[in-house]
Amino acid sequence: MTGAGRTWGGRFSGNMDALTRDYTAGVDSTLYEHDIAGSIAHARMLGRQAIISREDAEAIVAGLNAVLLDFRAGRVAWRPELEDVHTHVEVALREKIGEAAGRLHTARSRNDQVALLNRLLVREACDDAVAATSSLLAVLADLGEHHAADPMPGYTHLQRAQPVTLGHHLLAYGEMLLRDRARFTDCRRRANVLPLGSGALAGSPYPLDREGVARELGFDTVSRNSLDATADRDFAVEFLAAAAVAQMHLSRLAEEIVLWASAEFAFVRLPDRFATGSSMMPQKKNADVAELARGRAGRVYGELLALLTTLKGLPLAYNRDLQEDKAAVLAGAGVVVPSLRIFAAMLPALEFDLPRLRQAAGAGFSLATDVADYLVRKGMPFRQAHAVVGGLVLEAETRGCDLHLLPLDVYRAASPLFEPDILDLAVDAALAARDLPGGTAPARVAAAARAMRAEI
Ligand code: ARG
Repeated sequence: MTGAGRTWGGRFSGNMDALTRDYTAGVDSTLYEHDIAGSIAHARMLGRQAIISREDAEAIVAGLNAVLLDFRAGRVAWRPELEDVHTHVEVALREKIGEAAGRLHTARSRNDQVALLNRLLVREACDDAVAATSSLLAVLADLGEHHAADPMPGYTHLQRAQPVTLGHHLLAYGEMLLRDRARFTDCRRRANVLPLGSGALAGSPYPLDREGVARELGFDTVSRNSLDATADRDFAVEFLAAAAVAQMHLSRLAEEIVLWASAEFAFVRLPDRFATGSSMMPQKKNADVAELARGRAGRVYGELLALLTTLKGLPLAYNRDLQEDKAAVLAGAGVVVPSLRIFAAMLPALEFDLPRLRQAAGAGFSLATDVADYLVRKGMPFRQAHAVVGGLVLEAETRGCDLHLLPLDVYRAASPLFEPDILDLAVDAALAARDLPGGTAPARVAAAARAMRAEI
């Protein structure tokens, strides 16, 4: 190693400009756990394969474990001239065990080393996201079952449309999150391929046991093409794509919470511990958690787009541009995982105003479709029934009352098919009628919640 601990100083005579040093620095100072895990597996394999001596391999592994403890204890100072975490680890190892440290990098390039580190990082991010999604799913399944029969207005165009149950509404988010979780799981599966052994780009002339390293590090398989393995960052793109979709879902739910907590809706009271106040207006209680989850969706989309743009047009194989992947993954995971976690904590603490939701569910002509369906059941074509009920809505609007408060003779005048039982039309009957798989009938919603819990 020459020149200020650089790992590549041999053909250089001058030192790096400080501007260059800072400009090329990565964000991998926190990724020593991943780097050292990869190096330990590599060193063990080099020893097993007699590529280096057993003694050197043992010294390297023991030294790396000691370096790991030093990193964890904050005893390794970050030195910008050492470029990246790989070099820091190697220099720290040299300080511990001397010359043998120089054998660790046998049959390895930073290109396959960093590809390994990135896959370990994304694998972990997927695991964190899956765990956080599962916790939120469990919360939604419980709330869905608990509120399986509690009516609320369902909306289209943000206009009251038909009654649904609160459980049905919440479980809709559960369905989204189940898909999110499947995307993270799927991403992990494709990330879980060992790139180490690809060398800088062309493969390795040493008798490496790649399968053994893969087994030790929990990879399902080894990469089949060294160029692809060192240049591929699809797994990071896939993680960010899954994260972007998940954050978009949370943002939609966040928007509902913000609306519901407003005085205009007043469907929900925010628990104090998940709300903030205004520095000026003493009466305010703001849904800042929801707003920030909504606001941060843009950051996750941004990371996805940034990485896609980085990759576009890169020739094979490794290019330094690829270093940008880590910042993107860390930032994306840094938004989506805490967002999932705080929603899992916040949702059970929301206090729904169930009487108000029930009252709102039946208001605003939300049973108009059911009145039309009543006529259809008596033989009237739906289009005609739609027109008849449209007339009744107009009449009710003129009188300033809701549909169920119109007198029977008004119904009769609109169509002789109406009988006194039309006045029994009520929210609960409208809900119970939607008794197909996927419908909002309370029994269906409860069953959907149980099915979701089973899937979690
Ligand atoms: N910091 C680099 C990265 O994250 C490590 C690999 C550097 N390789 C190289 N040939 N310069 O991609």
